[in-house]
Amino acid sequence: MALDAHLAAGTYLVQKCDGLKGDIRLPGDKSISHRAVMLASLSHGETTIYDFLESEDCLATLNAFKSMGIHHEIDGHRLIIEGNGLWGLHEPDQVLDMGNSGTGTRLLLGVLAGQKFSSVLTGDSSLRKRPMKRVTDPLSQMGAKFSRQDEPNELPLQVHGGEIHGIQYKSPVASAQIKSAILLAALFAEGTTEIEEPTLSRDHSERMLETFGITITRSENRCVLRGKQQLSSVEDIMVPGDISSAAFFIVGASILPGSDLILREIGINPTRTGLLDVLKKMGANIALINQRYFGAEPVADIHITYSPLKGITVSGKTVVRMIDEFPIFAIAAACADSPTIVSEAEELRVKESDRISAMVEELKKLGVDIEEKEDGFVVSGAKSLTGSECFSHGDHRVAMSLIMAGLHSDGETKVNGTGSIATSFPTFLELIQEVSNGKVEDIS
Ligand code: S3P
Repeated sequence: MALDAHLAAGTYLVQKCDGLKGDIRLPGDKSISHRAVMLASLSHGETTIYDFLESEDCLATLNAFKSMGIHHEIDGHRLIIEGNGLWGLHEPDQVLDMGNSGTGTRLLLGVLAGQKFSSVLTGDSSLRKRPMKRVTDPLSQMGAKFSRQDEPNELPLQVHGGEIHGIQYKSPVASAQIKSAILLAALFAEGTTEIEEPTLSRDHSERMLETFGITITRSENRCVLRGKQQLSSVEDIMVPGDISSAAFFIVGASILPGSDLILREIGINPTRTGLLDVLKKMGANIALINQRYFGAEPVADIHITYSPLKGITVSGKTVVRMIDEFPIFAIAAACADSPTIVSEAEELRVKESDRISAMVEELKKLGVDIEEKEDGFVVSGAKSLTGSECFSHGDHRVAMSLIMAGLHSDGETKVNGTGSIATSFPTFLELIQEVSNGKVEDIS
């Protein structure tokens, strides 16, 4: 199936750069923005969300709730949502098109499972290939029904919500999307729901549910929620800067000699900071300053200066804590002075692209010695990269990673498929131009 035109379109030209310098703020966290819209919509009254991420993915979630009767207003950095209460959604007036957003889709499936109406979800060509059975299975066990019972693994899907009940579910994958879909469905369910995952995945849903007054019993990798609790109103939610967007700048500044960069108000939830830990072990110079909280979420300013990196081995729980960072981590590994091994990361194959094969294919074009493994990759550590023409595979994180690689490469690098960046980071180009002294240019 061909990629959607806008994900495959767009070309940036990148020149070698003598360091990232500056003091910048980055857009709001994608995971937290989706959850803020969902929970504010299900609570009573008005919630103001500061620094909601206005990217294509999060706007798809916002529009889905608009189609179900939730009024919102955007005013500069503020998104105001008028919640209708737990049972206040109405049947959508159209097919819910979630674009490229796996998070929006899977979490929404959880919400829709508990509704007294039917709805249809679809998405772009990438999303229509991504596995949904991991969510429809537990939601079916709760009593929800999905059309295409023959193929409940893929969008488009019709959801027949209704009376659902709590379950005990042992997830085979450490996935916040699976956990969150079940937790959201559990709000509408009769009885109690218990979820256990192999290792703790990002816990933004648990933290935000607690902010909205929901009682959740939590231990390391298990949580329990009693159904039919009402969400209390929350006046303000401040969304921290996205650590997964910061990751491109953190690696860029770590590998480019001369760098001195400060990123303000970035979320440092410990379920998301695997990359920081790994880079520090590789020798990176990263300092977290002004640590504080935005509601239930810890934030800090991150100061990065250049430092030579050495290779490392990454597997197990660390993989889960940096699951979205492997495309950019592959660039750090390619610039290290000894080999890096990544294993137990097979989940990368079912993201916006197959991120193992995409990164291996593209890094080879830049002269990197990298070998594909079923569950990861092995990189020799090239130190110097050679500019070339590469492709994002329609994946925003692959696109931004290749741009960072281009800043380190000799000569010019052309990155095709930069249209995908708008799904998570619409202001990426202006920010990278600011801190790289104009070394990235849109030549589409
Ligand atoms: C997300 C969870 C992760 C991550 C995705 C965002 C979330 O997916 O890759 O970008 O917000 O819950 P999985 O839960 O499938 O690992």
